[in-house]
Amino acid sequence: MNLGTFLFLLLQAGYQVNGQINSNNAYCPSFAPNKIQCNNDHQVPGLPALSMTVLSNFHTLNKSLLCGQTPKAQFKEAARCLFKSYSHCGDNDFKGLVTKISKFEEAVDLVCSRSDLVDHYASCIGDSVIDCIRNREAREKLTTSDVPSRDEQFNEFVHFYCRKREIEEECIFDDEDVDACSSSSTVPTFRELRLLMKPPACSSSGLMSSITVVIFYALVGLCVH
Ligand SMILES: *[C@@H]1O[C@H](CO)[C@@H](O)[C@H](O)[C@H]1NC(C)=O
Repeated sequence: MNLGTFLFLLLQAGYQVNGQINSNNAYCPSFAPNKIQCNNDHQVPGLPALSMTVLSNFHTLNKSLLCGQTPKAQFKEAARCLFKSYSHCGDNDFKGLVTKISKFEEAVDLVCSRSDLVDHYASCIGDSVIDCIRNREAREKLTTSDVPSRDEQFNEFVHFYCRKREIEEECIFDDEDVDACSSSSTVPTFRELRLLMKPPACSSSGLMSSITVVIFYALVGLCVH
C-alpha cells in the first residue's frame, strides 16, 4: 500500500494523527510558518513535505530515500524542528500526549535498521484492520465527533487519545489477516516501534491493563532480537 492510500485509510478510520494539540492557524498562528521553515531548512530530497501526520506514519516512507546517513540526519533535524513547533502550541499537559522527540529519533534508527521487516509488516495492515478500528472507535465513542471539549478534565483527553492508540494496537496485533501475512520476526519490531512512538501521557498507570500487555510484548521483543 502506498503512503497516500495508507494515510487516506487511516484518516477514514479516524486513526490518530497527532490531533492532540490544536495547531490550526486561528489557535496557534506560529505553527504554519514554522512548519514551512522546518521543511525548507532540512529538506530531504525525494520525500514529501513533512507534517505531523507524515511523521506519525514515517515508517511508510521510502527507506532508500530516508535512511542514507545524510538524509536520515536531515530528517531527524526536520522532525525535531516540527515536534518543537507543534508542542509549542500546547500546554504542559498536552505536550505529554505527543511522542517524545528522543524516542522518535530512536524509532527512525529502528525503522532504518530493519526496513525490510517494517515494510513487510506495514504491507500486511489492510482493510480488516481499518474496519476493526472504525468499529471499536464508534462503539467506545472515540470518533472525531467525540473529541473532548476544553472544559473537560485532562484525563478525558488522556483517555480519548491513549485509548485510540490501544485500539489501533489491538486491531493490528489481533488481526487474523495480519497474522497470516506477517512472520514472527516482524511483529516484535513493529511492537517496539509502537512503543517508541507512544506519548508519555499514555504510559501512566491509570490506563487499562491491555496497555501493560502491549508493553510486555514490546519488552519481550526487545529481549529476543
Ligand atoms: C524509493 O526510492 C527509490 C529511489 O528514488 C526508487 O528507485 C524506488 O522505486 C522507491 N521505492 C518505492 C517503494 O517507491
